[in-house]
Amino acid sequence: MRTQVVIIGAGPAGLLLSHLLAADGVESVVLETRSREYVLARIRAGILEHSSVELLTDVGLGERLARESMPHRGIYLHTPEQRTHLDFVDLVGHGIHVYGQTDLTRDLVDARVRGGQQLVYEVTGTALHDIDTARPYVTFVDADGAARRIDADVVVGCDGSFGPSRQAVPDPRTWERTYPYAWLGVLADVAPSTDELIYAWHPDGFAMHSMRSAAVSRLYLQVPPGTDIAEWSDDRIWTALAARLGHGRDGWTLTPGPITEKSVLPMRGFVAAPMRHGRLFLAGDAAHIVPPTGAKGLNLAIADVARLAPALGALLRGDGALAAAYSDTALARVWRCQHFSWWMTTMLHVTDDPFDAQLQLAQLRWVASSEAGARGLAENYTGLPLR
Ligand code: APR
Ligand code: PHB
Repeated sequence: MRTQVVIIGAGPAGLLLSHLLAADGVESVVLETRSREYVLARIRAGILEHSSVELLTDVGLGERLARESMPHRGIYLHTPEQRTHLDFVDLVGHGIHVYGQTDLTRDLVDARVRGGQQLVYEVTGTALHDIDTARPYVTFVDADGAARRIDADVVVGCDGSFGPSRQAVPDPRTWERTYPYAWLGVLADVAPSTDELIYAWHPDGFAMHSMRSAAVSRLYLQVPPGTDIAEWSDDRIWTALAARLGHGRDGWTLTPGPITEKSVLPMRGFVAAPMRHGRLFLAGDAAHIVPPTGAKGLNLAIADVARLAPALGALLRGDGALAAAYSDTALARVWRCQHFSWWMTTMLHVTDDPFDAQLQLAQLRWVASSEAGARGLAENYTGLPLR
């Protein structure tokens, strides 16, 4: 079998890339180890930057997004001293959208299926070959157990942090930070107790109130890494959330409800460079991981492929300049987001060092009271322009 671009991984990065390439007349095949059902059920992040929404809308993926996403003007920063609303629209001229990655993935899969895209699920043994040449190929075993080979002009690794693509880059440079805390995340069948997201600093640890819809809340608690979920009963979770999010302060209440999912997420920063080797390009989690506090993971994956798609289109038409620049330009945004995610994370998560706590509170007071401080957060949170 032969195609122009083999895309490894059907997460948001791989699916959106195949969509953007198709719009440019470039043919691709997407390979995915999991089943379609598994990919569509996976619970992930929920914030889309302003520029991500603009891009998705521009390329015909905005219909359900416009109908079902929740536009938010900003966020609340909460400490035991005060709750401050940061109005991003006032500060930088635009807000963000709350829209689950699950919903976006469904939109992308629907659009790809409508467009006749080849999405090959449940593959095993994905291996990359001859990426140093102009004729790379990928081998795998399909769901029926047949050995297959696809020849291509370009291979793109969108296979997340555990996929094989990154390993195919010889001698990559990597940077890693393991944060000394984790998140316990829950989904609950209860209307959100807040109109916009609450990011809370508390001596017991960070907490966040997010949402998926008018009837479903998403909440997080800072917990020690390696926490056993069995130690956290639903009651214990709601009690900790109430304390950290300020239940009872100034008449605000947190309404608990049935928890339908809980999991512990590690907090890690990671970057691998370069994001290109020969005819192999990396995008999304395959090249970088950010801790979730800045809500950047999904948006960074979108930003990568927004840059990569025109670069590949040009490369296949004989102009390699954008493709040559891809790794450096993508990494500049990756590091901006890595820094913002680190800044939000270290400002909001408690350590056992009381000096850290005072620095965090001083920083939070500055962001809450200074327009310059608030605007810096707003500019990064809503996302820098894609182009
Ligand atoms: N062959 C084919 N597919 C693979 C392989 C493989 N060997 N290994 C992994 N995959 C698939 C995974 O099953 C997954 O569906 O690659 C896909 C990678 O998707 P994501 O992990 O969603 O990564 P990405 O598309 O870069 O999206 C980034 O996802 O992890 C979140 O927080 C992150 O929101 C961000 C977004
Ligand atoms: C989420 O809704 O899952 C979410 C929102 C904001 C974050 C992280 C996760 O910073």
